[in-house]
Amino acid sequence: MTPQNKISASFPVAENVAKMQTSSTLKAGQIAAELREQGFDIIDLTLGEPDFQTPEFIKQYAIDGLQKNLTKYTPTAGLKSFQESVAHFYAERFGADFSPMEVIATCGGKQALFNAVCTLAGAGDEVLIPKPYWVTFPEIVNFIGATSVFIETEATDFVLTAEQVKNSITDKTKLLIVNSPNNPTGRVIPAAEMRRIVEVCAEREIYVLTDECYLYFVYPPGEVFTSAALPTELRKYVCVAGSFSKTYAMTGWRIGYTIAGADWSKQMAKLQSHSTSHPTSFVQYACARALENHADSEKAVGAMLSEYERRKDWLIPALQQMKNFKCAMPEGAFYAFVDVRDWFGEKFKTSADVADLLLKEAHTVVTDGAGFGANGFLRISYATSLENLQQAVERIKKVLE
Ligand SMILES: Cc1ncc(COP(=O)(O)O)c(C=O)c1O
Repeated sequence: MTPQNKISASFPVAENVAKMQTSSTLKAGQIAAELREQGFDIIDLTLGEPDFQTPEFIKQYAIDGLQKNLTKYTPTAGLKSFQESVAHFYAERFGADFSPMEVIATCGGKQALFNAVCTLAGAGDEVLIPKPYWVTFPEIVNFIGATSVFIETEATDFVLTAEQVKNSITDKTKLLIVNSPNNPTGRVIPAAEMRRIVEVCAEREIYVLTDECYLYFVYPPGEVFTSAALPTELRKYVCVAGSFSKTYAMTGWRIGYTIAGADWSKQMAKLQSHSTSHPTSFVQYACARALENHADSEKAVGAMLSEYERRKDWLIPALQQMKNFKCAMPEGAFYAFVDVRDWFGEKFKTSADVADLLLKEAHTVVTDGAGFGANGFLRISYATSLENLQQAVERIKKVLE
């Protein structure tokens, strides 16, 4: 019995929470930390957060905010300056046309996703989720008592198509959750296909939640695209979940936002007013200022993107040369998604078995794809130094060969 089950056996946990699974990505990181504490020299390739520090100018804005005594409650939807900065930034960067009132400041992308799903779907509804998915999507659906309907995308190299969405819609479909650039695959849905996906949904009055947490991490020649820039008649079916976490290396600050039509936003603000109220006041202020400072923010994001690209360009060919590893070149985010099914047989029956081997023999922790609905795959994060990646590849190569 796992420690978690022991707790549930003695605690009358609510049914909706009992149905949820602990995040498998967090679990893998915890294993790495525990082994390190025991003195093992572990290389952790499970990280879902940038290994960079928050840019100095953003830290300074937060200090300014504190000195201006921005230490009290803000409106639930966020400081007016935050809403305005998001709207102005999207208008300038993407030509998007929405009002500041359609922006809600949230405690990270996670709360944006929770707000959007909880205000729209409930028991009896179906929520479409393309596979592989980010671990939290089906758990939110579990939590609200709705049903996840998974869409297989391997036939199209893990890039969701409008056709696949169309074929998965039933009378009960309420919402589609899309994530591009994608965690865990690193794939990016092209702008024209994304538009067709929203069109297919809008025709049937199905809403689309687009998780754009990795928005700016698209490698050239790919283009950054946001559904917030779709025409109004389509955008009214869309909620964009945005986040500062990955973009500006601010995972611990807990700040993100939703961009959605006024009616949906009103309901999300109502829900949020009874949970966290709003993200930290001076953090909102710092982020508003950061978005206004185009030059410095573009420079900071550009530097991180180039470094991820340098690592990716070294790592993927190295992985492709490994025995029985298959790995496509990621188009965005900072993950390599490795197909290890050629290892399956007598000894290895699941990707968890392969991950276990890498942990025990190569002292390298990677994330098993099963948690993303993709048994047979491993997710390798390159949000770590090139030196770590090179050392890990050496170790894995020795074990596999
Ligand atoms: C796909 C995806 N969406 C959302 C999040 C949530 O990020 P945060 O709540 O830190 O903004 C993450 C974090 O790992 C993610 O990978």
